[in-house]
Amino acid sequence: MSNSRTNYSAIPDDLEGDLQKQVPIYRKKLNIIVGASIIGITGAIIVASTIFLGKTVEPEPKKNVIMMISDGFGPASETFARQYYTWLGERDVKTMLPLDEIHVGHSRTQSSSSLVTDSAAGATAFSCAQKSYNGAIGVDPQENPCGTVLESAKIHKDMLTGLVVTSRITHATPAAFSAHVRWRDSENEIAEQQIGHNPLGRTVDLMFGGGVCEFLSNATEGSCRADSRDIFAEAEDQFGWQVIHGQGSRQKFDSIEQDVELPLMALFANDHMDYELDRKPAEQPALHEMVSKALSILKTKSKKQDTGFFLMIEGSRIDMAAHTNDPAAHVHDILEYQQTVALVKKFVEENPNTVVISTSDHETGGFTAGRQLGDQYPEYLWYPEVISRVRNSSESLAEAWSASLLSETATDNFLTQDLIKSGLGIKDVTGEELQRVKDWKPTANCTTIDLSYIFADMVSRRALIGWTTHGHTAVDVNLYAKGDGTEALRGSHENTEIGDFIVDYLGLDINDITEKLAKDL
Ligand SMILES: *[C@@H]1O[C@H](CO)[C@@H](O)[C@H](O)[C@H]1NC(C)=O
Ligand SMILES: *[C@@H]1O[C@H](CO)[C@@H](O)[C@H](O)[C@H]1NC(C)=O
Ligand SMILES: *[C@@H]1O[C@H](CO)[C@@H](O)[C@H](O)[C@H]1NC(C)=O
Ligand SMILES: [Zn+2]
Repeated sequence: MSNSRTNYSAIPDDLEGDLQKQVPIYRKKLNIIVGASIIGITGAIIVASTIFLGKTVEPEPKKNVIMMISDGFGPASETFARQYYTWLGERDVKTMLPLDEIHVGHSRTQSSSSLVTDSAAGATAFSCAQKSYNGAIGVDPQENPCGTVLESAKIHKDMLTGLVVTSRITHATPAAFSAHVRWRDSENEIAEQQIGHNPLGRTVDLMFGGGVCEFLSNATEGSCRADSRDIFAEAEDQFGWQVIHGQGSRQKFDSIEQDVELPLMALFANDHMDYELDRKPAEQPALHEMVSKALSILKTKSKKQDTGFFLMIEGSRIDMAAHTNDPAAHVHDILEYQQTVALVKKFVEENPNTVVISTSDHETGGFTAGRQLGDQYPEYLWYPEVISRVRNSSESLAEAWSASLLSETATDNFLTQDLIKSGLGIKDVTGEELQRVKDWKPTANCTTIDLSYIFADMVSRRALIGWTTHGHTAVDVNLYAKGDGTEALRGSHENTEIGDFIVDYLGLDINDITEKLAKDL
């Protein structure tokens, strides 16, 4: 095998390096310079308020919580990404990824209905701090709405709230913080609730991600709504949202200023955003770019109104690549998530009273780095270079092959040269593998998922990467945290205790929200 490390698709060179510049470090200096005069003024204010109120009032510090969720990312995937990154850059064997440096424990993930959770129950455990059944979006096992930490942060603390994801914004994880439906597939209704058609009114201030189709009237091309409601228009007219989507949304995103009017929604794809491996930077921002923008907006705006903020960030498609058993798409989305973590850690260091928690809702794929093929006792290794030659997700290659079949432009050359050789970086495709692809026929509903499995398998076998399922597993997932008070997250925790931690840290009352939701039903 060739050992070329230059021939790989774009990966951040240094996960921390680029990020040093992004957050100003004026705070410390400023404190020293004006410290003395502030002591004087503060003294006067305290005396004044003491006289006025008859007691000394310590102002509550304004706290911020950044909840990061790496969907479908188990411990073996962390090892895989670290070894890949280290190999790729010929880095020191002791190299750690940004998450490794803030590892505190693990989260146990089973739901109320199964030993193996889905994303809906997984996210509801974080948002409502209680176990529910697979498919539940912000509802308890009896299907009653449960108050979420995001809602309480808004209603009780007047905090600013944001959701930044790479899936449809109506997908299970962001939905479980901002909506209440019995079943996760009710995404049309989730979109309505997210803009403010909700017993609580609007509780979200900022949404970045994909999922335009859920907001478009069924009369509009690309819609996935069952009705003719234009949810973007309702968002603007009834709830004051500023909406960015469609042509030029990347450029509009770039020009958003940090003191932009909220609420603000920017959606960059009709369906999910692209895998990082496939992403065209001129069309869609990367997760870390969306997060960097969201943090600067939330910081500026919350400071102005003298409150804190709650931001939920999801690396949504780490999971989807694992469902497809596509190791290259998986690792690129993981490394993009790690770059985002580096940026958020920096933010936490420079902004007191801010914590970041990062964990997964569950593992996906039963992933292993190391695999036995055939009867011979296996060697102890896996091949990162195989992964480094992949240029496209198996999903995008499957769509390309399916489209060429449907338009009757499919040729052997297109398959072996464009898709397998340059797309997957595979030069030794076997006749049997080609036959598997050729045996695949597009169906009426155009599902290309089975075809993606075939492409992904060619890579996994050559790299000695193993998978045991196209679904989820029950394995405990790593828990990472940084910031004052996060010592409480050390050790082994039920996923619901992460919700409990946020409630305690921010002084929230999710039970009161549950009552409000019940009253208004
Ligand atoms: C669009 O939605 C309306 C209801 O809002 C329905 O009457 C109509 O049949 C739908 N059209 C299509 C093409 O689904
Ligand atoms: C694969 O990736 C390359 C490089 O980014 C791109 O030019 C090509 O269009 C992609 N192919 C498919 C089928 O998406
Ligand atoms: C797609 O269509 C085939 C047959 O037409 C059907 O068996 C299959 O269940 C459909 N898949 C989905 C995801 O709708
Ligand atoms: Zn999930």
